[in-house]
Parts: sequence; C-alpha cells; structure tokens
Amino acid sequence: MKLEKMDEFFDKRADTYDHHMLVDLQLDEFYEEVTKYLDCSSDMFSLLDLGCGTGLELERLFKKYPNIKVTGIDLSQEMLNVLKQKYAGEKLNLICGSYFDINFSKDCFDYALSTYSLHHFDESTKISLYKKIYNALKPHGIYIEGDYTCKTINEQLLYIAENEKLRMEQEITNGFYHYDTPFTVETQMKLLKSAGFSDVKVVKEWDSTSIIVANKL
Ligand SMILES: C[S@@+](CC[C@H](N)C(=O)[O-])C[C@H]1O[C@@H](n2cnc3c(N)ncnc32)[C@H](O)[C@@H]1O
Repeated sequence: MKLEKMDEFFDKRADTYDHHMLVDLQLDEFYEEVTKYLDCSSDMFSLLDLGCGTGLELERLFKKYPNIKVTGIDLSQEMLNVLKQKYAGEKLNLICGSYFDINFSKDCFDYALSTYSLHHFDESTKISLYKKIYNALKPHGIYIEGDYTCKTINEQLLYIAENEKLRMEQEITNGFYHYDTPFTVETQMKLLKSAGFSDVKVVKEWDSTSIIVANKL
C-alpha cells in the first residue's frame, strides 16, 4: 500500500467524498447523533470545527442554529471548496492549513467539534492538539469528537506498528500521510484528561466509531 500525503489524499477525493460517506458508508445516523451534543439554548454561539472537510457535520447545525459562527480548519483546499459551495451565505471562517500549526485564540469558542479526522495521529500529537482546544474553549465550553475507534489495545498497537512499518519502507520521515490508526475509547479518554478536560464521557458507541464529549470546567 502506497501512503499518500494527507492533503493530496483528500484533494483527490473531494468530489466524491459526500457520496462515499452518506451513500456507501451510510453515515447519516452518525451525523444526526453527533450534532445532538451541541445543545444550545441560544443560536448565537461559536464553533471551532477541526478537519471540517466538506462539512457533513455542519448541515444540521446550520439548520437548527441559523446564527452559529463556524471556524473550520482543514488541510485540503478541495474539501473546503466543496464546503464553501454547499454553505454559501452561512457565517463561516475557513482556514486551509493544519490544526497542529494554526494558533487558536484563548477562551474564544463555545464549542469545538471534530469528526473522522483525528484517527490519523499518534498520542503525543493528539495531546498537544487537545491542550490547544482546551485553551481555545470558553469556560464551560464543550469539545465533541466523533471518530473511528478500535476495541482493544492490541488492535490499536497493530495499526500503529503497521503505519510505522509502511513509513519506514517508503522512507517517510516526517509529514502527514493518510493511514488510519484508531485508538480505543479508553486511550482517547486518557489523552483528553491529560490535556486538562476533567469531565470526559463516551456518549455513543457503534462497532468502529464512538462519540466522546469533554467539558472544560
Ligand atoms: C475523513 S475527513 C472528515 C471530514 C469531515 N469532518 C466529515 O466528518 O466528513 C478528514 C478531514 O481531516 C482533514 N485533516 C487531516 N489532517 C488534518 C490536519 N492536520 N489539519 C487540518 N485538517 C486535517 C482532511 O483534510 C480531511 O478533510
């Protein structure tokens, strides 16, 4: 298997991405569920969406909260172009770049959300991002992550080992390449807690996907 650079992988697939997620993988139920945890009494709130892609997770939110302000970050310009076309007229600040490099303002967002984006990264990389998210949230802000997860630590270690093997064989020493390395929900909860979130809950689990909600107290 030839590893592809992350941005190029998604650039190439942007045109068919929504069809793949909604028709081939039938993930409508996931997007319905993940938006339930943004339950705001006012529709004037700010949301940071990490790895927003074409914004499948935003459709229901724009309908329910017409005044929501979304900052979306993604590495793939082509995915962002699809998002822009779909949601012309919404309050959107789109940034093409890596969420690991972009600075977030402190105490700025009511919610942060990430769907199907963070299962590509190792533990220390994720913790550094979770700390940034924690700082970017307002007091009592909420972070919601819906992503692929695996069932056992052995599985988790196998994905990581396979990724390392492929990178070594292909002489890749740094940079983001597309390869799925899902973690168990226990690992995910541990990482979020070590980044500062004290109240972390798994709110929904399917076979290979989970939704975790972490509160900033
Ligand atoms: C599987 S898609 C998910 C898109 C969308 N959130 C959804 O649920 O349909 C993963 C997205 O994460 C983005 N991504 C991966 N690594 C990233 C990084 N370091 N910074 C910003 N975006 C990243 C990819 O470009 C891609 O658009």
